[in-house]
Amino acid sequence: MIRVSGCVRTAVLCCFGTLLASVHVAAATDDGVKELYSIYCASCHGVKSAEAPEAFNTAVWQRRLAKGADSLLANTIQGIGNMPSQGTCFECTKDDLRQLIQYMSNTK
Ligand code: HEC
Repeated sequence: MIRVSGCVRTAVLCCFGTLLASVHVAAATDDGVKELYSIYCASCHGVKSAEAPEAFNTAVWQRRLAKGADSLLANTIQGIGNMPSQGTCFECTKDDLRQLIQYMSNTK
């Protein structure tokens, strides 16, 4: 009797594990943006600095966002001030950059 209930419990745990794994796969795109951010943008935007607008600090981004998403994207692509063109991410597509800007300018 005890053995049987032990078996059932294992099966339930196993199912739950599979469910969690599939949720993880569904979030893959988001993970891709986070990865690009940490490789290319975090070195400047991940630190408090007088220059680069700090990622996830929404107050700092208000003035930037007021320019409109298209201007921000254009400035990121061509470079602005001390930020090099594409924010150094040359493997990033326009769409990646757009998502990166959204990711950085929102709270986590
Ligand atoms: C070498 C440091 C550096 C890196 C790497 C970098 N940035 Fe920047 N970024 C800056 C600086 C400095 C500014 C502020 C420029 C200014 O307004 O004079 C800035 C500003 C911006 C802005 C605001 C532009 C505007 O029009 O106000 C966006 C958007 C941005 N960065 C996106 C990115 C993204 C996306 C990445 C990664 C792909 C990235 N940056 C990587 C230094 C960097």
